[in-house]
Amino acid sequence: MGNPRTVPIVQKRYADTPYRYGFAPTVQVITPPANGQYYLPGEGIDVKVTFRDGAGNRLHPDGSLPRYSDFVSERIDSGLRYYDGFQQLLTLYYALKHREGLTMWSVAGPSERLKMPSHVVGFFDFFAPQTTMATVSEDGFSSVATLNPRFAQLAVPDARDTPVSDTVHFVIPEDARPGTYVVTVKGRRDWGGEALNRAATLEFEPDHALDYRIHLIHSRSDRFAADVYRCATCHLTPPDGPPRGFPGIGPY
Ligand code: HEC
Repeated sequence: MGNPRTVPIVQKRYADTPYRYGFAPTVQVITPPANGQYYLPGEGIDVKVTFRDGAGNRLHPDGSLPRYSDFVSERIDSGLRYYDGFQQLLTLYYALKHREGLTMWSVAGPSERLKMPSHVVGFFDFFAPQTTMATVSEDGFSSVATLNPRFAQLAVPDARDTPVSDTVHFVIPEDARPGTYVVTVKGRRDWGGEALNRAATLEFEPDHALDYRIHLIHSRSDRFAADVYRCATCHLTPPDGPPRGFPGIGPY
């Protein structure tokens, strides 16, 4: 009673705001594999993210995201949030670590090998175009990740005003194993009193070709009752090219 506090409140009419509640990120891989079928180690892939609210309104224009400087000065009307460890006076193992937010993108696989990695990420690794989070030799799978805005864009004050793209370029690690990979994007939104974090995932095959898979599986599984070596069982016209995936046929 004897210690009043005053909080200034500015009201906006809900009908006048361009956004609605909810948070729905979607992710696309926008560069097709060079060979038209599957990505190879060392190849680049461009991953594009679109953040929308629950009514489908875009939270940023096509092609770009707000700058980190916009976040720091609280100028992002859509409520998108970025890494806020600096605002929370970050120290290692501090009590409010669970409140720290960030926007992170990653590519990892093969998906059936994913587990908690043991690879140690050094501080300066965060400044690289992509940060290695797991390696085949240490963890049995590959994982690369980045913050977006990039760590170099938010940790260096002079860089905080540089444009932020909605597309991130990743390079498949040289030692990547064949299989299904998963792209993951995690984002945050705090709008109209509703704080949400949401992730979107997308699976793709860096080393997948339909013929290889079909031949491989049906020549080894007993579930396919027909003779896979009778090519006409599936092929209406005799195929040309190497019959990939059969045990004992060709170099594949
Ligand atoms: C169980 C079904 C099945 C059988 C049996 C099968 N194939 Fe295929 N094969 C496929 C499928 C599915 C594709 C992928 C077609 C695509 O990508 O459009 C394919 C693709 C291929 C391709 C790649 C070029 C192309 O035409 O798409 C070759 C070459 C091929 N098969 C050879 C063979 C040969 C040789 C045999 C027999 C020894 C054989 N296949 C038996 C299902 C089969």
